[in-house]
Amino acid sequence: MILEEKDLAGLKIPQHVAIIMDGNGRWAKQRHMPRTYGHAKGAKVLEQTLEDCDSLGVKYLTVYAFSTENWSRPLQEVQVIMNLFRDYLVSAVDKCMRNNVRCMVIGDRTRLSPDIIESINNLENATKDNTGITFIVAINYGGRDDLTRAVKKIAADVQAGKTGPEDITEQMISDTLDTRTIPDPDLLIRTSGEQRLSNFLMWQLAYSEFYFADVHWPDFNKDELLKAFEKFSKRERRYGNIK
Ligand code: IPE
Ligand code: IPE
Ligand code: MG
Repeated sequence: MILEEKDLAGLKIPQHVAIIMDGNGRWAKQRHMPRTYGHAKGAKVLEQTLEDCDSLGVKYLTVYAFSTENWSRPLQEVQVIMNLFRDYLVSAVDKCMRNNVRCMVIGDRTRLSPDIIESINNLENATKDNTGITFIVAINYGGRDDLTRAVKKIAADVQAGKTGPEDITEQMISDTLDTRTIPDPDLLIRTSGEQRLSNFLMWQLAYSEFYFADVHWPDFNKDELLKAFEKFSKRERRYGNIK
């Protein structure tokens, strides 16, 4: 289903799309291949999705690449995923510079290997002034962990006398999360048919529209993205008000 030009014209493009890229393992298993084959294919699909989002006019794309819970997987699988990050973070510098993409990483990076942390810093620094789409990769990210780290920072500020408990606002909390400079997602997409948040951006998704695609992440493509945008276009966002 490629949408006709006239349909595209009526499409509302979300400013910020967040994606839980799920189903790599099952996709590989269906092909009698190791789960890690699915992760490698998933990484390629992500590059194409970034291009598609950019060409459709999305301004922010945030993807869930590795959760704080994913460390509980077999070590070999975790290592393969970390190696995919290693390759991606290095090759992304040139690609992002060519395409004017600003890349950021959210999550607690203190648990990552020093070489990965260095590549993240390098990629973020190199692309920080790019004015095209902002691409946010969540690595060792957990919504609860993000909030816990924010609470610790605010508590430290209170203890240091920089602010008082009564001064804490929702805005202050938003401004202390990893996503502090990024507007909240308009649309959350999760692939592979699962309908849960799995500890993704809990605070930030408070008023986002949710869309669940049946395909596994390695089979996600521009058609699927357009289907999600089509559904999003028909949603009525009320924010607690009445229509
Ligand atoms: C998503 O695919 C990728 C990561 C969580 C890193 P999965 O690896 O969760 O694949 P399934 O859900 O087991 O099929
Ligand atoms: C969520 O997928 C995390 C990522 C996509 C990185 P999982 O596959 O880890 O989630 P659960 O375990 O099915 O909830
Ligand atoms: Mg999964």
